[in-house]
Amino acid sequence: MNIVIVGAQWGDEGKGKMIDILSRKVDYIVRYQGGNNAGHTVVAGGKEYIFHLIPSGILHKGKICCIGNGVVVDPMVLIKEINDLRKAGIHIDGRFKISSLAHVILPYHRILDQLRETKRTQRIGTTGRGIGPCYADKIIRCGIRMVDLLNPGVFRDKLKDNLKEKNEIFKKVYDHPGFSFDKIYEEYLDYAKALSGYICNVHLLLNDAVDKKKDILFEGAQGTFLDIDFGTYPFVTSSSTTAGGATIGTGVSPVKIDKVIGVAKAYTTRVGEGPFPTEFPPAFDKFMRNKGNEFGATTGRPRRCGWFDAVMVKESVLLNGISELAIMKLDILDNLKNIKICTGYKYKGKKFREFPYDFEVLSNALPIYKEMPGWDSLTTKAKKYRQLPGNAKNYLSFLQDVLNTKISMISVGSSREETIFLD
Ligand code: IMO
Ligand code: MG
Repeated sequence: MNIVIVGAQWGDEGKGKMIDILSRKVDYIVRYQGGNNAGHTVVAGGKEYIFHLIPSGILHKGKICCIGNGVVVDPMVLIKEINDLRKAGIHIDGRFKISSLAHVILPYHRILDQLRETKRTQRIGTTGRGIGPCYADKIIRCGIRMVDLLNPGVFRDKLKDNLKEKNEIFKKVYDHPGFSFDKIYEEYLDYAKALSGYICNVHLLLNDAVDKKKDILFEGAQGTFLDIDFGTYPFVTSSSTTAGGATIGTGVSPVKIDKVIGVAKAYTTRVGEGPFPTEFPPAFDKFMRNKGNEFGATTGRPRRCGWFDAVMVKESVLLNGISELAIMKLDILDNLKNIKICTGYKYKGKKFREFPYDFEVLSNALPIYKEMPGWDSLTTKAKKYRQLPGNAKNYLSFLQDVLNTKISMISVGSSREETIFLD
């Protein structure tokens, strides 16, 4: 079975844990978009691992983990991640592959990402990793791909051409001295040497796996509302985070994908700027952030927290074709007096039951809440659904009804063991 895992909110839903759990049942795990803006945390054997580029399934022996063509790769970060895994005793040789068609993040992408943020009045709050500028170069056709790095002549010509144009922009627009060709060229040829053994035509490898009836897990990064088309634009990331991205970003046809599983937190979080209708008021926000340890795995920034937004997740179900949901971090809602779920919005006397895309409406929308009593016992020890407190079950069953989607997994703690399976 070929399954896509996608975040149903604004990222950080707990995709890392889900992928780690589902990896056991598949042969291949492939990242299809994003880059090291992602931070996927897995707790295994009492140890915490944070992955930015390598699929979270790598901890499972024998699984083949790939970076698809849709991903943007910062080779410096990737090499560090490979070395860290080696140090932890995890062997990846022979089972880690990078698409020859994946685009490469260069120093000018990182710097431009940061400079643009300081220059604009409407900041996006990016991770500053060069993700947006790298995708922009891909689209305007001056990107450098993995396969280009492997050919010193091709790489030289492309880099020369790029720097000619970019250095002028850096100087004139951003008052930045620009970049030396020699320095980047040598540095990146070294990266190419270090990575060459992993680079191959991942799209062919995966299609071969499909022919052989192997199982593939497509690991989405970020979340539906950070999607370049369907997210809360412009406060989004620069890739297709929705399930469709899985086919563009790997070269596996949509007709070969069997199922999409959505991952959502039992509440909502968001890092960076942008509208967030169900955001908690400041004091409660701080309380919940500490309770849920909601600090970014990539940048360490505090995450903004709010109630579960069923309008959003309903839209995610639709956009991604989600047939099963995993609800994460239910335990963080333990011991709350009341719990709210947003089922609609109000703005200027008008009611909205669908996610509003008008920036003014979304920025000022007042949530319509369904309020439910909380539970005062802990969910962490529950191994089965029936062991959950009654009000926690009521909460989940309300979510299931309002979203019209089956909840198949519930996470009540960070470790693999703290997971309830409903099938
Ligand atoms: P994972 O995979 C949460 C957010 C940034 C910013 C916006 C654009 O861990 O869920 P970018 O650097 O991508 O251009 O920033 O997107 N963002 C994420 N938020 N989780 C992520 O990834 C994110 N990756 C990017 O905070 O608001
Ligand atoms: Mg994350």
